[in-house]
Amino acid sequence: MSLLNLPRSFEFGVATSAFQIEGAWDADGKGPSIWDTFGHTPGKVLDDIPGDVACDHYHRYPEDIEIMKWLGLDSYRFSLSWSRIMPDGVGRINQKGLDFYRRLTDSLLDAGITPNATLYHWDLPQALQDRGGWPDRDVADWFAEYAAVAFDALGDRIGRWATVNEPISTWVGYALGAFAPGLRDERAGRQAMHNQMLAHGKAVQAFRAAGSPGDIGVVLDIWKRQPATDSADDRALAAQGEDDGFRFFLDTLRGGGYSDRLRERLQAEGTFPDVHDSDQEIIASPVDYLGLNVYSRVVVNSENQDSNGWAESDPPRGGNFLDDGSEFYPRAVYEALQMVRDDYGWNGPIYITENGLPDGPADPGADPLHDQERIRYVGGFLEWIDRAVAEGSDVRGYYLWSLMDNYEWGMGFSKKYGIIRVDPETLVRTPKDSAHWYRDVIAAHHASH
Ligand code: BG6
Repeated sequence: MSLLNLPRSFEFGVATSAFQIEGAWDADGKGPSIWDTFGHTPGKVLDDIPGDVACDHYHRYPEDIEIMKWLGLDSYRFSLSWSRIMPDGVGRINQKGLDFYRRLTDSLLDAGITPNATLYHWDLPQALQDRGGWPDRDVADWFAEYAAVAFDALGDRIGRWATVNEPISTWVGYALGAFAPGLRDERAGRQAMHNQMLAHGKAVQAFRAAGSPGDIGVVLDIWKRQPATDSADDRALAAQGEDDGFRFFLDTLRGGGYSDRLRERLQAEGTFPDVHDSDQEIIASPVDYLGLNVYSRVVVNSENQDSNGWAESDPPRGGNFLDDGSEFYPRAVYEALQMVRDDYGWNGPIYITENGLPDGPADPGADPLHDQERIRYVGGFLEWIDRAVAEGSDVRGYYLWSLMDNYEWGMGFSKKYGIIRVDPETLVRTPKDSAHWYRDVIAAHHASH
């Protein structure tokens, strides 16, 4: 693999999120989040095992930062737990929660690792869900209040911020019921998506108002849709999948407002959100960078559509495959970069804020430490990023998902994305082959400049 086009300043990192690794779900004054409630509700997450302990990163962060140092990381992307900082979501501030993030970021800075903090990665304070949650328009002001607290307390240590991670998660939580809070209401789901973008915009405004140093952006996941055939149905469904998956967010972020195609369909379904006159301008408050999470693409086949509108085709013939039978399509990252440039005129800085692969299908004989498939996967994506940079994309960094095996939402500990293995019983951390490999990639990059 050669990554000759990445400049010296290109940052290699790993990404995690608070709920997936911290544990300590009720320690030191933390309030419950919707994921705590969800995990404690029978039948919601795999084997009813909640994320109470997760990787116990809250207590083991010094060891985890030692691992990051060993890897040679330039940057670490993590998220803040809103209800650890503000147990009720608004009002009262939990000093001990802020202290944790102060210790964490101080240790990162001491280790020479740039902290990159996401304000929201799916763990809404339960107290705010009780007041209506993301479908309630007031959430945008609640979020801006929390953001201002975080900027004020941590802005001197954190130079790179993201507002929200993958706002599409609200659809999964409020319309599909698969994520917390587990509701199935499409109208609420669309409103939650809109309100989360409004919250994003208000947080950006709070950042500017606070005069915080550093950069702020937003993280979107991009799964480009490829029609399986040239049929009108496949093409229409592919376009619809992109509208719902990421154009809903990019259209408004980039100031265009919801497209006529999207608006007409949602109005016909009765799910178009309530939008106030000033919303568009707030949502389009200029960001300093775009964060893109890219894992693959979806080949859309209208004949395979399920009740959620998901119409993934069988993997295309002649494609390149992963051990689990899914398509290996590292060009997805190149296409995502082209798309934001060509369709949205975005020529500014971009970070690939997540990309990674879970361990292969459970094979009793397989040693999870020998994860050659993950190496092939990440290497393939890095080569396409390198090519995009050669052609002028301003990609500033890459965050591998994820540092360590963690609590994979509704899948519990069964789906493992880590380059560091975490023993589910003892929580002992052990580097997989991919961790050694990634360390070498980073060292070679540093040495080549
Ligand atoms: C990203 C999320 O979409 O994908 C992460 O930001 C998540 O939190 C990762 O762990 C993997 O997701 P999935 O859908 O493969 O379990």
